[in-house]
Amino acid sequence: MRFSVFLLLAVLGSAQPPPGGARQAEAKEPSEPGIPVRSQLVKDKCSGCHRADAKGNLTRISWERTTPEGWQQIIKRMVRLNGLVLRPEEAREIVKTLSETHGLAPEEAKPVAWYWEKRYIDGETHPTVAIGDACASCHPMAQALSWRRSREEWDLLVDMHRGYFPVVENTSFRRPSYPAQGGGGGGAGAGPTPGQSANPAATGTRRGLEQMLGAVEYLAKGNPLHTPAWAAWQGSRGEPRLAGRWLVVADLAAKGRFVGEMTIAGGAGGEFTTKTTLTSLKTGEKMAREGKAVVYTGYAWRGRSMVAGKEEREVMSFAADQLSAEGRWFWGGYSEFGYDVKLVRAGDGPVLLTTGQGGLQIGTKGTELKIYGDSLPAGLQPAEINLGRGVTVTQIAAQTPSMLTVNVDVAADALPGKRPIAIRRATLPAAVPVYGAVDYIKIPRTSHARLGGTTHPKGFFQYEAVACSNGIDGKPNTADDVEIGPVAAKWSMEEFAARMGDDDKEFVGSLSAEGLFTPNGEGPNENRKFGSNNFGDVWVVATYEGGAKPLMAKSYLVVSIPLYVRWDHQPEVGR
Ligand code: HEC
Ligand code: HEC
Repeated sequence: MRFSVFLLLAVLGSAQPPPGGARQAEAKEPSEPGIPVRSQLVKDKCSGCHRADAKGNLTRISWERTTPEGWQQIIKRMVRLNGLVLRPEEAREIVKTLSETHGLAPEEAKPVAWYWEKRYIDGETHPTVAIGDACASCHPMAQALSWRRSREEWDLLVDMHRGYFPVVENTSFRRPSYPAQGGGGGGAGAGPTPGQSANPAATGTRRGLEQMLGAVEYLAKGNPLHTPAWAAWQGSRGEPRLAGRWLVVADLAAKGRFVGEMTIAGGAGGEFTTKTTLTSLKTGEKMAREGKAVVYTGYAWRGRSMVAGKEEREVMSFAADQLSAEGRWFWGGYSEFGYDVKLVRAGDGPVLLTTGQGGLQIGTKGTELKIYGDSLPAGLQPAEINLGRGVTVTQIAAQTPSMLTVNVDVAADALPGKRPIAIRRATLPAAVPVYGAVDYIKIPRTSHARLGGTTHPKGFFQYEAVACSNGIDGKPNTADDVEIGPVAAKWSMEEFAARMGDDDKEFVGSLSAEGLFTPNGEGPNENRKFGSNNFGDVWVVATYEGGAKPLMAKSYLVVSIPLYVRWDHQPEVGR
C-alpha cells in the first residue's frame, strides 16, 4: 500500500512534497481558475482526499472535464484502488452531476463519439506518429481526446500512468527505438536516425522525453479546461425535453435498412423510457424494443433496451435543437454488432426520413424510389418532388402519410453525387446517390476478431460490401466518389503469408455466405503445428459479380486471443 500512499501524496498536493515531486511544487498555484463543484454529494464523498479551496474547487476534479464514461472510469478507480466507498445510486448520481458541470460540449464529444459508441474504425488518425506512439499504444487516442484539462492536470495524468504502469516509460513514453521527430515511420524496429548521438539508448531516452512532452504540449494546447464551446453550451443548453414521437432509420451491416418509430416518455431528472418498433425494408420483419435511458449534459443519451429477450445498449447524441439524434445501438461480446441510428422528431408538418437503400443510375428510366417520412401531404404532384437537376419524378405510384413510391427518370447528362430531396418545406440532404456505374466495392481495410466460446465470448466480425462510383472526376478513392449502398458479395478467405506453414486459413474460423466471420475456439489446439492456439491473420476477400466485370476488395483480418484483461472503460452509464 506504500505505493498508493505515495501516489496520494504525489497527486493530491500534500504540504510535504513527495520525493521527485518538483512538478507538484509548481502546481501549487493553479495556472487557470477551476470549475467549482456544486454538488453536495460530490463534496461529501470526494473532499476527504480532494481538498476544497475557498472558491469551491476540489483538487484535481475542478480542473478536468470529460464524458459520462470518463467520470465513471475515474469513480471506479477511486473505489477500486484509492479507498472511496460509494453505494451504486450515489455513484450514478455523481457521474450525472459531474457530467453536468464538468462535461464536454457536443462538438467536443463528436470527434470521439465512435469510441463511446464502440465502433470498429479502420485505423485512428493520430496528431503525429510520436504522439500516437506515446498515447495510443494501449488505448486509442480517443481516450485522451475525451478529456479537457488544465496543463497541470495533463502533467499529472502522465504521472498517473507512470505510477500505475511503470513499464509505460519504456514501452511508450521513452522508447529507445523512437525515430526523430518528423522522421515519419515509427514504432518498434525503427533504428536511430543517422547523425544522432553514438549512444542509441541515451538518444532514445532524450527523444522519448521530447515526444512525451510533445504529447502533453499538444493536449494542453488543444484540449484545455476552458473552451468557448463549453462556455457556449453551458449558457445556451436547455433541459432535454425529448418526450414524444420520433422517427427512426437504422442500418445494420448485412441486414440492410430498418425504419420505425420510437416513443420517448418521462424526462424528470433526465430519465426516459422508450418503446420502439423497427421494420426491415429488406424482409418486412418487425421488431419491438422497450428500454430506459439517461441523458447526460443535456444531449448525451445512454440507454438500454430489451429486444426479444436480449439487451442492446444505446449511445446517441441529440442535436442542440432537440429535433434529431445520431448514434449506435449495439450488442455482442465486444459490442461488435450494431445499428447506425438516426432519429428525427415527428412534428406538426411533413418530415422526410430516408429512402430505401441503393441509388439511381444515370441514363435510366422509370426506376422505383421509396421515400419514407411522416405526415407526408396527400395529393402530391410529381413536380413537387425535387431531386435536383437531371432527375425527374415522372409518376407517384403510391402514397401514404409515411411513404411515397415514385418512378424516376435520370437524364443521360445528370451529374453523379448524393442528391437532396425536397417536398414543399420538408428537405432531406444527401439522400439519394446518383451514379454512372459501380466502379469498385469497399470493405474495411483491416478487421479484427477474437477467438472464444469456452471461457470468453467470441468476437465476431460482420463484413459488408458497399458499392461505390468514381464520381465526377472519374477517379476512384477521391472526395467526390459516391457511395451507392451495400451489395451482395461472395466471401472467401486467403492465406496471408506470415509464418511458414501456419495454415491460418484452416484454423482461425469460418466465413458465412453473408460475410459473418465466426472465430474458432480459444486455447491450445493439439491438431495445430506446435500445438499453438487458433490465432492468425488472413485476407478476407469480397467479390461482387453484379456489374460488367467482377470487382474485388480485400480486408486484412487479424484473429487474436480473447481480451483477457479489460481496461475498465466498460460504461455501465445508462443503467
Ligand atoms: C480515499 C481517497 C480518495 C477519495 C475519497 C477520492 N479520490 Fe480521487 N484520487 C485519489 C488519488 C490517490 C488519486 C491519484 C491516483 C489516481 O489517479 O488514481 C486521485 C485522482 C483523482 C482524479 C484524477 C485522475 C486523472 O485522470 O488524472 C480524479 C478526477 C478524481 N480522483 C476524482 C475523484 C472523485 C470524483 C471522487 C469522489 C467521488 C474522488 N476522486 C474521491 C484519492 C481519492
Ligand atoms: C501502458 C499503456 C498506456 C499508455 C501508453 C497510455 N495509457 Fe492512458 N490509460 C491506460 C489505462 C490502462 C487507463 C485506465 C486506467 C483505469 O482503469 O482507471 C488509462 C487511462 C487514461 C485516461 C483516463 C483518465 C484516467 O485517469 O483514467 C486518459 C485521459 C489517458 N489514459 C490518456 C493517456 C495519454 C494522454 C497518454 C500518453 C501520454 C496515455 N494515456 C498513454 C493505459 C495507457
